[in-house]
Amino acid sequence: MIIQEFTCKEIKREVDVISFSWESPSNIALVKYWGKNSDQTPKNPSISFTLSDCKTKTSVSFKRKKNKSDNIDFELLFEGEKNFSFRPKIEKFFSLIKNYFPFLLDYHLTISSSNSFPHSSGIASSASGMSALSLCLMSFEKELTLIKDDFFFKKASFISRIGSGSACRSIYGGINFWGSHPEFAFSSDLYSIQISDNISPEFHKYRDVILIIDDSKKEVSSSVGHELMNNNPFSNLRFKKANNNISRLMNILKSGDLNEFCSLVESEALMLHSLMMSGHPTYILMKPATLSVIDKIRQFRMDSKIPVCFTLDAGANTHILFPDKFSEQVMIFIKNELSHYCINQNYISDFIGSGPKQI
Ligand code: PMV
Repeated sequence: MIIQEFTCKEIKREVDVISFSWESPSNIALVKYWGKNSDQTPKNPSISFTLSDCKTKTSVSFKRKKNKSDNIDFELLFEGEKNFSFRPKIEKFFSLIKNYFPFLLDYHLTISSSNSFPHSSGIASSASGMSALSLCLMSFEKELTLIKDDFFFKKASFISRIGSGSACRSIYGGINFWGSHPEFAFSSDLYSIQISDNISPEFHKYRDVILIIDDSKKEVSSSVGHELMNNNPFSNLRFKKANNNISRLMNILKSGDLNEFCSLVESEALMLHSLMMSGHPTYILMKPATLSVIDKIRQFRMDSKIPVCFTLDAGANTHILFPDKFSEQVMIFIKNELSHYCINQNYISDFIGSGPKQI
């Protein structure tokens, strides 16, 4: 089904060769998206922090061809080399979005991408990668049709979502809300919305330090994980709970109650992993070191009274969230007490960021 709102507007310019580059960050969900419909709309709404330094840089050059093709024609370079392993994912993405960019059938695309974080760090690059690519496609649409900025970003989020659900939350900086919720009239399953009104100053400068505990390829991909939610015995309860947690988190973001924030964010992370452990088949993505660092973080929080908490993606790597004003004490704690749980003592220090940039 084509969503009319996002079809391409009238072409107003002729272009033979052009290129655009964007860098786009990853994001970390506070209330998790886990379970989706066949059109990659979510089974429940989610809220995330957009990161700053974990990002993908993508350039796309568009060259007009002699003849129009049936599919979007492209070549893919990753970190400077021809890449075949990501090709099927991009092919599928292009087949799903070509009706929203009919002009692309007249061009040959050369896509060149690289990540700021090591490919083998276990950090998912689908959110940063799909959002950076979608922004490049939107820049070309803007060049041809002269669309306005608000439509540009809304469609970029809509298109990113088709590539990877959580990617739609990387189009804007700060805090993002994706998925419809009865209490929030602005919310939509089709794209994310940045929430910036009434946010407590406690959240203005927040940090995310990512402990690299496992750098291997995930045993169960997120796509399979989402699918397993279709017959998970707890799924309906989960979707209801996620909706409640969204309302709770929206209140916390207003009030700035950081103890409540820690309690909610950690319960979301553990619920995500408990769903993996209670489906059919069951699977476990956390590693023993994940549990050890969780234990240490909770002990540190109790002893220091600093509101530092953890969250997890669909993997073993642990994200540590805390207000920037506690950086000195928390970074010493991470270095002295947690870094030896990381592969080669490797962790990534990041912040909540201001969103993608055209370069
Ligand atoms: O966007 P996907 O299909 O990679 O799924 C992301 C799922 C989680 O990272 C586990 C949660 C989330 O909301 O980002």
